[in-house]
Amino acid sequence: MSHLEFDGHEIAPPPPGLATAVKVRGVSKSFGRGEQRVTALGQVNWDVYVGQLTMIIGPSGCGKTTLLSVIAGILNSDEGSVEIFGQDVTKMSDRRLTRFRAERIGFVFQQYNLLPALTAAENAAIPLVIAGWSKPKAVEKASHVLNSLGMGKKIRSLPRELSGGQQQRVAIARALVHDPSLLVCDEPTAALDVESGRTVMNLMRQAALRVDRAVVVVTHDNRVFDFGDRITRMDDGKIAEIRDNEHTHAVAASA
Ligand SMILES: Nc1ncnc2c1ncn2[C@@H]1O[C@H](COP(=O)(O)OP(=O)(O)O)[C@@H](O)[C@H]1O
Ligand SMILES: [Mg+2]
Repeated sequence: MSHLEFDGHEIAPPPPGLATAVKVRGVSKSFGRGEQRVTALGQVNWDVYVGQLTMIIGPSGCGKTTLLSVIAGILNSDEGSVEIFGQDVTKMSDRRLTRFRAERIGFVFQQYNLLPALTAAENAAIPLVIAGWSKPKAVEKASHVLNSLGMGKKIRSLPRELSGGQQQRVAIARALVHDPSLLVCDEPTAALDVESGRTVMNLMRQAALRVDRAVVVVTHDNRVFDFGDRITRMDDGKIAEIRDNEHTHAVAASA
């Protein structure tokens, strides 16, 4: 682990040679009013780098999902700026942001949210169909992505015929099918057994091994901490610590 002291917190230096994918500056977000007001994010400065799997950890309620939602352009912050690959999403019109999200960002959540009547390939093809692809072309591309995730034999299966880990892999295929620059995942292994969780995290790591993509995974699942290249620990709406994980390659190689 390598550390720098910053404001009394430990912040690892930027990884040498890697470009910034997400740049968060002075971002705050509160919910509710008066006595009920909760500060979910308090003046957060944070960077995510390409070619890495960045993990956000910390206790329940510390602001992980809020930070992830802000960098994915799903939730507006109260103040501050969020640049994704050089574009400030906080300054975009709703229409432009919707398009930017559809083209550049992929999402994976704890609940797979697959449509029960569609096959694995049809589910994974949805973002392409929304983007205007013909259904056969979209399903063909989705089938390739499923194949690359080890799901080649399941492309015609319905969600109910798949295990939790397999359903999550379909959800990952759906998130990757349009080749996003930023993949964000909120607690993707929380509903999975240890083995499926490791498989999913290895696929996340593979997805991050590109010079034009960053992957951010929120988790409080300590079984998968080791899969992150860089680990951000949050506490009470703030970044409490950032450290580099020197064990990731060994973990990935042995999995
Ligand atoms: N939509 C919301 N309305 C009101 N409070 C919220 C909302 N979303 C999050 N919060 C509050 O903001 C804080 C941070 O929540 P969240 O980002 O979901 O934390 P985490 O993902 O780390 O568990 C918590 O106190 C939570 O109750
Ligand atoms: Mg959360």
